[in-house]
Amino acid sequence: MIFVNFKTYESGTGGKALLLSKIIEEVSKESGVKIIPVVQSSDIKEIASTVSIEVWTQKIDPVEFGAHTGSIIPEAVFEDGAIGTFLNHSENRFNDFESLAKAHDRAKEVGLKTLIFAKDLEELTKVSSLKPDYISYEPPELIGSTDISVATAKPEIIQKASEISKQVGIPLIVGAGVHSFQDVKKCLELGAVGIAVASDIMNAEDPRKELLDLVEGYR
Ligand code: G3P
Repeated sequence: MIFVNFKTYESGTGGKALLLSKIIEEVSKESGVKIIPVVQSSDIKEIASTVSIEVWTQKIDPVEFGAHTGSIIPEAVFEDGAIGTFLNHSENRFNDFESLAKAHDRAKEVGLKTLIFAKDLEELTKVSSLKPDYISYEPPELIGSTDISVATAKPEIIQKASEISKQVGIPLIVGAGVHSFQDVKKCLELGAVGIAVASDIMNAEDPRKELLDLVEGYR
């Protein structure tokens, strides 16, 4: 599986996010590889009502109905059609583990699937205790890299992350700098079930071509 994180790229915002989601849907159906657009909360409703693949959101906040100006409440994104949510991405981390745990609880209360990011193996072990649907290892320093990927720079860590994943029984997703089918293949060989990618797709002149390249990693 491939999570495409739209972040706040222009190519992943509003009408452009909808167009990209349709391309992702087509490539996913053509290739048989599950590809999930992970979109801004403001775009979920339109995208989820247009495409017939899973759509996830990038974050929810650890809040309940009430006075929490500017927060993203899980009930809202679930009602809009989100199937799951990222949590603890290195670009939008919680201040402390308790807040992450509360956000995870809230996501589960409303029925969202969850993927929790970790920057290293210690954090991966810690977040596994929350029993998310997926755990993800992403070294922050490689995010957005166009030449060095997690697959080429951190194979030993991916291998160890995969051992943790097997011990806790939670599938592993790996990301940061992934930009070729070779990267995808390597991550899978090392024990990940999928990858998370952003800049390779979001900055691409031809995102379909890039997606078609990445899915080759599953051949
Ligand atoms: O969540 C995936 C993302 O952080 C990876 O970003 O640009 O290195 O593919 P990128």
